[in-house]
Amino acid sequence: MVRKERKIKIRSTGIYLPEKVLTNADLEKMVETSDEWITTRTGIKERRIAAENEVTSDLGAAAAKMALERAGLKPEDIDLILVATNSPDTIFPSTACWVQKKLGTKEMPAFDLQAGCTGLLYGLIVSEGLILSGTCRRVLLIGVDILSKITNWEDRTTCVLFGDGAGAFILEESDDDSGLLSHFWGAEGSLGELLMLPGGGTLFPASEKTVKEKLHYIYMKGNEVFKHAVKRMGESALEALKRAGLEKSQVDYLIPHQANLRIIDATGERLELPKDKVVVNVNKYGNMSVATIPVALHELAEEGKLQKGQIIVMVAFGAGFTWASAVYRW
Ligand code: UT7
Repeated sequence: MVRKERKIKIRSTGIYLPEKVLTNADLEKMVETSDEWITTRTGIKERRIAAENEVTSDLGAAAAKMALERAGLKPEDIDLILVATNSPDTIFPSTACWVQKKLGTKEMPAFDLQAGCTGLLYGLIVSEGLILSGTCRRVLLIGVDILSKITNWEDRTTCVLFGDGAGAFILEESDDDSGLLSHFWGAEGSLGELLMLPGGGTLFPASEKTVKEKLHYIYMKGNEVFKHAVKRMGESALEALKRAGLEKSQVDYLIPHQANLRIIDATGERLELPKDKVVVNVNKYGNMSVATIPVALHELAEEGKLQKGQIIVMVAFGAGFTWASAVYRW
């Protein structure tokens, strides 16, 4: 979509990161791996892991509370809870409904959006439509995942990659120049089998067999996913920039989905950006799936690095395959 006058803005952000830190040294004791392999292949040094009694809606509600507090708003001031996640508390009800219960809001619509690691950007695009059409005034958009609970901790090809976390945005119509300038999104369902959680749905309903065959854990053909991620993230970022009528040289910060430092670097190179314009936190949090972009944006703002008017490009890729990008003026 090419930009028009009206825009939505991120009024505030919030995050929640579980306390427990799992380092590469810890992983060396769990599976046959090394700090050297994990660091050179992924850039990850450590990640956060949710406590046994923490569920996805706990992380999401905590991030939401911070975002509401920072905006000076109460739960009743929002009129939609939209949760992007791939690791819901339950298949149903939605995690958004569990978050609503935990926030104690008035009655309002609440639903989940599932788009792999791209969920936060899909959620941003959906929220824009709802806000600018007048359906909602203010949306609480949460990106949250607890992948540690759907990871096979005996599979070294996946267990070193993921981390848990949550980020939240309060979205509303912008009353100035700041806001979402453009976006681009897509999906290619024919490649879905390269990254999936096969068991527990209608394809492989939960049974002793599915448990024995470990079908309730993330399956990923990593090197295949890698190639598509590099291609789609680069292309998507460029397309969103084009739709905003901006040049690569006008980008102040690129916030790519944080799956692997090599994918992040390749996307930065595609946009011809120096390293200090490419936001990286995969080293300290691993791949938090839907939460990587909102946490990175929150921390960038917290560090005082964002000036009003700066141009931020966000871009993600994930299961589906799905991809999306957004250009945002701070
Ligand atoms: O967030 C959604 C999207 N997800 C992604 O974007 C992830 C994309 N993929 C990746 O980031 C990378 O493909 C990985 C980090 C998952 C893997 O890196 P790679 O460079 O593609 O390695 P590979 O899968 O080709 O494996 C290379 C070797 C293999 O050994 P052989 O067959 O060459 O002997 C693996 O068995 O590395 C081995 N290996 C490991 N060695 C030590 C795989 N995992 C590990 C490990 N420790 N944890």
